[in-house]
Amino acid sequence: MKLSYPVHDIDNRLLLPAGTELSGDVLEDLISSNHTTPSQTLPLLEHGSVRKDIVKFISQPPYQLIFPEKQDISKLLKQMEKVQFVLPFLRSLDYFKQYDFTTYNHLLNVFALSTLLAGDLIPDYEERIRESAAGPAHDFGKITVPLKILKKRTPLTRAERDILDHHTLAGYVLLSYYKKDPYSLTARVARDHHERNDGSGYPRGINLNDRMVEIVAVSDVYDALVSLRPYRPISYDKRSALEEIVGLAEQNKVSWDVVKALIAHSRTDKPHYQEVEIPSEKRGAPPPGNVYGIIAEETDADASGTSE
Ligand SMILES: [Fe+2]
Ligand SMILES: [Fe+2]
Repeated sequence: MKLSYPVHDIDNRLLLPAGTELSGDVLEDLISSNHTTPSQTLPLLEHGSVRKDIVKFISQPPYQLIFPEKQDISKLLKQMEKVQFVLPFLRSLDYFKQYDFTTYNHLLNVFALSTLLAGDLIPDYEERIRESAAGPAHDFGKITVPLKILKKRTPLTRAERDILDHHTLAGYVLLSYYKKDPYSLTARVARDHHERNDGSGYPRGINLNDRMVEIVAVSDVYDALVSLRPYRPISYDKRSALEEIVGLAEQNKVSWDVVKALIAHSRTDKPHYQEVEIPSEKRGAPPPGNVYGIIAEETDADASGTSE
């Protein structure tokens, strides 16, 4: 695992230069160099308007179908209250809320959805509830990606796409550093949530190797599809989004159990996830104007404009 770009901390101090091989020794040295950040943690739900915003976001379509009952939302919030974070992560949320609201909204939606699905799929989840921290922190590394790229409406160039994809390793480095632990699930999910079971993901092309990684991977894709994105003015409707995700499971890219749990919660009768039958017929259609995955020709202006 080699860094293609430098990683700076949240105050823009260089942590590791481009070309660094992320060995255990390098990470241990990096962590022991962290004298500035106290390891004190604070509850994420009590930070700023996070609690109010989560309730607002999951009360809107299509999430209101997944979270229809007030008492279920209260129970979920009770679980989420246990999730704590170091201050730099909370500061990064403030940054996204102010400068890139789409990412802020996404992090909180993935927090809620991954917490819900983990409750179904991880048997001793009550004891492991803190693992839900992996949901909101999965894209922490986007703090290192220029806003110009995060908010670009037209297709990214190859160079821009590479910088965006680097949010995985950057997030892993930042969370290892701030949590002072290179093995935490939260840091590993930041690194691995774009991996796929058939090895077609990034940054390493490895299989998904943990239930929580699988849960965040599916929650991440679902929220990306059903939300408005800079690169896609119209979001997927619920049916088309679920069909897209079923397609990923059919191609062995993501976990069937997680997909079935998501579908179970999207149905009004809320069956147990193991009882969900998947219809073979697909009737949804992706929305028009989606430029995701299209790589633009690089112009001189692009080449000089991505390093701000
Ligand atoms: Fe991501
Ligand atoms: Fe994400």
